[in-house]
This record gives sequence, structure tokens and C-alpha cells, in this order.
Amino acid sequence: MEIKKVAVLGAGAMGSGIAQVVAQAGYEVWVRDIKEEFIQKGKQTIEKNLRKAVNKGKISLPKYKEITSRLHFTTDMKEAVEDADLVIEAVPEVMDIKKQVFQEVCQLNKKAILASNTSGLSITELAKATDRPERFVGMHFFNPVPVMALVEVIRGEQTNDDTVNAAVEFVKSIGKIPVVVKKDVEGFIVNRCLVPYLVLAIDDVEKGVAEPEEIDAALLYEYKMPMGPLELADFVGLDILYFAGQQWSIVPKSKLLEEKFNNKELGMKTARGFYDWRAGRPKIPK
Ligand code: 3HC
Repeated sequence: MEIKKVAVLGAGAMGSGIAQVVAQAGYEVWVRDIKEEFIQKGKQTIEKNLRKAVNKGKISLPKYKEITSRLHFTTDMKEAVEDADLVIEAVPEVMDIKKQVFQEVCQLNKKAILASNTSGLSITELAKATDRPERFVGMHFFNPVPVMALVEVIRGEQTNDDTVNAAVEFVKSIGKIPVVVKKDVEGFIVNRCLVPYLVLAIDDVEKGVAEPEEIDAALLYEYKMPMGPLELADFVGLDILYFAGQQWSIVPKSKLLEEKFNNKELGMKTARGFYDWRAGRPKIPK
């Protein structure tokens, strides 16, 4: 089946990033969120990224206009998903919310391939909320989406080969590198390693092993990573890690993470987490 119209559900950091790269690749994209303010924020993020690309000479002004003309924003689920060939869900990391969204989609669209950008919830379980588990697949992007090359394509127990192949081809068509995850395990390939690692670094802070800057500096020095674990935790969002901890068995429990979540210190998105982000990225001595 040819993919022309793509619906992206959720205009947050992941949804807006996905919408941007999909529109840049030439698809018509409909972005849907539940509130106008979320839509406006997502739209502004995309426009800011694209304007930067124009200023750097990476895209021309006519190209900018062409890309933005392919992006449509709405709070109306019907408008977003009707006639869509592919629906990519990027709503909060809560099983029940995601299931509810897919149930709604299935009432309004009978043909689309359904994809979830979940960080690690069971694709098989999510697919149960739909009328087409064989055409349901995980499509997991990484933050910041316009920069990160990898996309995990996750096969649920009932996902058929045509759907996996279509997802792989779609990911290639937007200039990303697909990796097929054959088994639907918590966290898939990357987050299965990454999230426990980040939460263990949070545990170091909680136990007073070292200060966040020291933990990050140690890992930056040792492994030449682009960000240490606590900066990355803040960057990814402490809410995402908290939800993972609540729903996946492989993530260590963390009181400090729960405290940060309850205090709405969610990292970069709220300007407070393990670091103060008001003046931009933390300066970690390397
Ligand atoms: N959106 C779009 N573009 C961005 C961006 C953003 N949020 N942040 C940075 N960029 C672009 C910059 O514009 C710049 O583009 P250019 O090459 O055209 O000039 C390029 O990325 C490099 O940015 P900077 O020079 O400002 O800074 P860095 O070189 O330090 O790179 C970074 C920033 C790409 C964020 C880098 O620090 C990095 O790779 N960090 C780790 C990110 C990571 O590991 N992500 C995965 C998280 S796990 C995940 O998402 C899974 C989820 O399920 C939990």
C-alpha cells in the first residue's frame, strides 16, 4: 500500500520531531493533539528548527514553504486520521492512554497501518486495543528526532511481514536507519539497556555516591558519550523514565525519580531536573 497521508498523534517533543522529518521527506502530515496550546508549541518547535536549517543554508526558503505547507495541525481526531495511510502515535507513555487513542483511531479509520512510538511498552498488548493487530507495529524514534538516525521497528506477536516491511521502507524513505526488533521485550533494544543505566545513575545521586556533574563527567570522560546519564535523563524527560519505572519490570525503583516527578521537575522541558536548564545545557567539566 502506498503511504501518502501520515497522521502523527501528539505534538510534544517526539510527535513534533516525527512530523517534521516526515514532512521533510515529502509526505502530507496531520498532527493532532488534545489542546490548541500543545499544537501551537509543537508547530513553533518545527518552524524554529526549519528556520534554523534555512539560516544554515541546509534548506532553501521555497523548500521551507513547501515543507510547512505539507504540515497540518488540528485538535480534531477525525480530521487527522480519516484517510491516513499510516498513523504514528506519540502520546504520553501510559498504556491506558495509548490504548484509548488507538480505539478512537480504529473507529475513524479502517485502513491505516498503526504504529506506536512507545519507548518500551508491549506492542502486542497495545495492538489488543485495535481491530488490526496484524497491521500494528512499533516505530520507536529517538530524541531529538531530526538529529538521531536510528528508528526501532518492533514486531508484536501478531504483526505480519507486510507491515514490518512497510514500516522498514517508510523509515528508510524519511532518511532514517531502521533496525527490526524481532521480539517485543520491555524497552526493545536500546531502552532495555539505556533506561536502567539512567536510573542507576539517579540511584547514585540518591545514595550520595557523587554529585550529578561528577557522575556525568566520569562517564563522559570514560566513554566519550555526547551526554552523561543525568544530563541525558533530564534531556529525555524524567516523566518518561518515571513512567518506564512504573510499567516495566527491568527498571530499578527510584524514590528520587518519583520525588522529581511529583515536584514536576521533569528535566529540560520544565527547566529543572538534575540540572537547572534556564540558561541552556549544563556545563559539565570534561
Ligand atoms: N532539535 C533539532 N535539532 C537539534 C536539536 C533539537 N532538539 N538539538 C540539537 N540539534 C541539532 C543542532 O541544530 C545541530 O545541527 P547542525 O549540525 O545542523 O548545526 C546539531 O543537532 C548538533 O547540535 P549542537 O551543536 O547544538 O550540540 P551537540 O553537538 O552537543 O548535539 C545533541 C546535541 C544531538 C542533542 C547531542 O548532545 C546528543 O546526541 N545527545 C544525546 C541524545 C540521545 O542520546 N538521544 C537518545 C535519547 S533516548 C530516546 O530518545 C529514547 C526515548 O524512548 C527515551
